[in-house]
Amino acid sequence: MRVGILGSGLMGGKLGTLFAQAGHDVVFSYSRSQDKLKDLARSAGRNARAGTPRDAARDADAILLAVHWSRIDDVLHQAGDLEGKVVVTCSLPMNAADTELVIAHTSSGAEELARRAPGARIVAAFTTVPSEVLFGVFAARRKPNRPSLVYCGDDPGSKRVAAGLIQDIGFDPVDVGPLRISRYIEPFALLVGQIAYEGQSGPEVAYRFEHFEPASK
Ligand SMILES: NC(=O)c1ccc[n+]([C@@H]2O[C@H](COP(=O)([O-])OP(=O)(O)OC[C@H]3O[C@@H](n4cnc5c(N)ncnc54)[C@H](OP(=O)(O)O)[C@@H]3O)[C@@H](O)[C@H]2O)c1
Repeated sequence: MRVGILGSGLMGGKLGTLFAQAGHDVVFSYSRSQDKLKDLARSAGRNARAGTPRDAARDADAILLAVHWSRIDDVLHQAGDLEGKVVVTCSLPMNAADTELVIAHTSSGAEELARRAPGARIVAAFTTVPSEVLFGVFAARRKPNRPSLVYCGDDPGSKRVAAGLIQDIGFDPVDVGPLRISRYIEPFALLVGQIAYEGQSGPEVAYRFEHFEPASK
């Protein structure tokens, strides 16, 4: 697939690199440094290049949105028309200090994004993994017991695209339902962040959901 990266920081830079290494054609965009985008593309290999947000969005089969919440309107404006596009968002609706969700309980960042980019086919994914874990999960992708990664959205086709990307970089995709479920995922992402950055275990943290049969019937 052709994957456009809007926001090439910790999440966009790493996920874009892994998508390229998994065989997708990647365009890195949206950084304050064009040199950084070029360096990212060079180190991601021959499937990657640097471009503008408009370049990244134009021919993309999937777009990864990975910017701070405060940059959403600007990056959407620069990307142009996203009508019909698959947009996978990992952007959490955080305040400027990154301490609180500014949208929660009765709505979510992903639902607000759907309102701000009407016609885009939004999937919420990758919010619940610290960027530090991504390369390790990719390196272990052929092992059994992959870590889980939840995703949600309202459009079945775009969810299939997102599930493929999630799988390609080493996670087990877990479809948790329609886009409104991101109201529960986004606070869960803060819990993961709390464990990763404030707890004892360090940022290399991923989780796995398992189903258990009842011990006896
Ligand atoms: N980091 C994580 O582990 C993690 C995990 C889950 C979800 N998230 C969410 O994912 C989203 C992205 O997080 P991140 O950690 O990847 O953020 P980040 O490292 O700050 O990356 C954001 C990108 O936006 C670019 N940017 C910021 N202001 C800009 C401007 N004025 N003009 C052009 N480009 C600009 C940055 O440019 P520069 O390259 O110049 O810095 C960077 O490439 C956030 O919503 C966050 O809540 C993050």
